[in-house]
Amino acid sequence: MPLNHCRVSLWHGFYDSVESIRHRSPGDRMSSDPYSNNTDAEHHVQLSLAQTLCEAASTGVDTALAREILDQLVAYSDVHFLSEQLLMRLCSYPDYDDHLSDHDRLMLKLEAARQRDGEEQTLTPPAAEAILALLAQHISTRDRRFVDFFRDWSRHAAKPESPPIT
Ligand SMILES: [Fe+2]
Repeated sequence: MPLNHCRVSLWHGFYDSVESIRHRSPGDRMSSDPYSNNTDAEHHVQLSLAQTLCEAASTGVDTALAREILDQLVAYSDVHFLSEQLLMRLCSYPDYDDHLSDHDRLMLKLEAARQRDGEEQTLTPPAAEAILALLAQHISTRDRRFVDFFRDWSRHAAKPESPPIT
């Protein structure tokens, strides 16, 4: 596939993936509360960027494109983690410190990959797959627990007479 077609096709795949969640009906979404919807959408963007990075790394034809996607993933993850951390502080989340440490570890891995990539070492497909696996693991475990906690906290904040969160 010519280089420009490859570049356009990869970005189209990413934007199609992100657009697909914007057009879901509320009933199709995982939850009806706004935080969960926003967070699920942000996780979808993060995973779509990581998957697009894997595709770019596996084609091995356009290192500038892989670099561009990695830059986007690092910047997006930085902002997304910060927004999660602010919500955790808002609700006095008891696992804040552990969750924060995991964000820090993920950012270090992402920054290390970007630094290696910036030193003219092309991001290898296994390195890109490892990034995707780490993000997917974080989202399906720690983030899931936080979303559940935040949902209960929000419910209790809206109705203080409801049973307290445990
Ligand atoms: Fe998180």
